[in-house]
Amino acid sequence: MQISGKVFLVTGSASGLGEATARMFVARGAKVVLADVNSVGEALAGELGTSAHFIRTDVTLEADGAAAVAAACERFGALHGLVNCAGIAPSERIVGRSGPHSLEGFARTISINLVGTFNMLRLAAAAMLLNELLSDGERGVIVNTASIAAFEGQIGQAAYAASKAGVAALTLPAARELARSGIRVVTIAPGLFMTPMTAAFPVAVQQSLAQAVPFPARLGQPEEYAALVAAVCEIAMLNGEIIRLDGALRMAPK
Ligand SMILES: NC(=O)c1ccc[n+]([C@@H]2O[C@H](COP(=O)([O-])OP(=O)(O)OC[C@H]3O[C@@H](n4cnc5c(N)ncnc54)[C@H](O)[C@@H]3O)[C@@H](O)[C@H]2O)c1
Repeated sequence: MQISGKVFLVTGSASGLGEATARMFVARGAKVVLADVNSVGEALAGELGTSAHFIRTDVTLEADGAAAVAAACERFGALHGLVNCAGIAPSERIVGRSGPHSLEGFARTISINLVGTFNMLRLAAAAMLLNELLSDGERGVIVNTASIAAFEGQIGQAAYAASKAGVAALTLPAARELARSGIRVVTIAPGLFMTPMTAAFPVAVQQSLAQAVPFPARLGQPEEYAALVAAVCEIAMLNGEIIRLDGALRMAPK
C-alpha cells in the first residue's frame, strides 16, 4: 500500500513509538488520526497540522474505539491503516515482598495491551471492509505492537509478557480471516527502544540494557520502529508475521 494519500489511525500516538509513527505518516503525505488516552496528543496533532486529528481514546472501551474509527472516516473519508501502539509495561513479581501479584494489575495489563489491541483491530477491520480495492486487491493494513517479552519475558514481566504473547498469537488467525477481505495483519516485536517508557529507567539501567544488545549496542530509536511500519505498509507480501526489531537481543531471565 502506498502511504501517501491514505488514512491511518495510530493508538498510543501521544508518545514514543506511536508518536514517531504518526510523524512518519504525515511526513509521507498521509492523514493521521492520533488516538491516545493522554490528551497531550492534542498538541502533537496541532503541530502536525491539517493532516492530523487527535481524539482522546481509551483503547479498552468499545465506544472510544468506535469513535476513533468514525473520526478517521468522517474527517478524512476512509480508514486504510491501523497501528496499535497503546500499551503499558508494569513490572511485578508473581510473589513479591508484599505478597502475590495484584490480580487487578494483571487484568489491567491484559486489558490495555491485548483487549485494547483486539478492540481496535476488529473495529478498524470493519471500517476497512468498506474501502475500494487498492493495488494488489488490498483494502487495509493493521500493524500491532508486541514485544520480545512475548518470547523471553523476564522475571517481573508475567503480566506484560502474557499480554504481548496474546498479541503475537492473535496475528496469524487475524491475518488468515481478513485475507479474503484484502486486509493484512502484521505484528512488530520491538526489543529495547528509547521512549518515555524506557527513559524513566535510571541511566545506569539504560546503559546496561544497551550493552546487552549484540548490534547495534544501543537502544532503538522510535524512528527505526516507524520506518518498519512504513515498510510493512508498502510491502504487500508481508502478512501474518511477527517481526522482531531488536538488534539480535535475547533477554536474560532478569
Ligand atoms: N519502548 C520499548 O522499549 C518497547 C519495547 C517493546 C514493546 N514496546 C511496546 O510499544 C508500545 C509503545 O510503547 P512506547 O515505548 O512508545 O511507550 P509510551 O509510554 O511512550 O507510549 C505509550 C502510549 O500509550 C498510551 N496509552 C496507555 N494506555 C492507553 C489506553 N488505555 N488507551 C489509549 N492509549 C493508551 C499512553 O498514554 C502513551 O501515550 C507499547 O505497546 C509497548 O509495550 C515498547
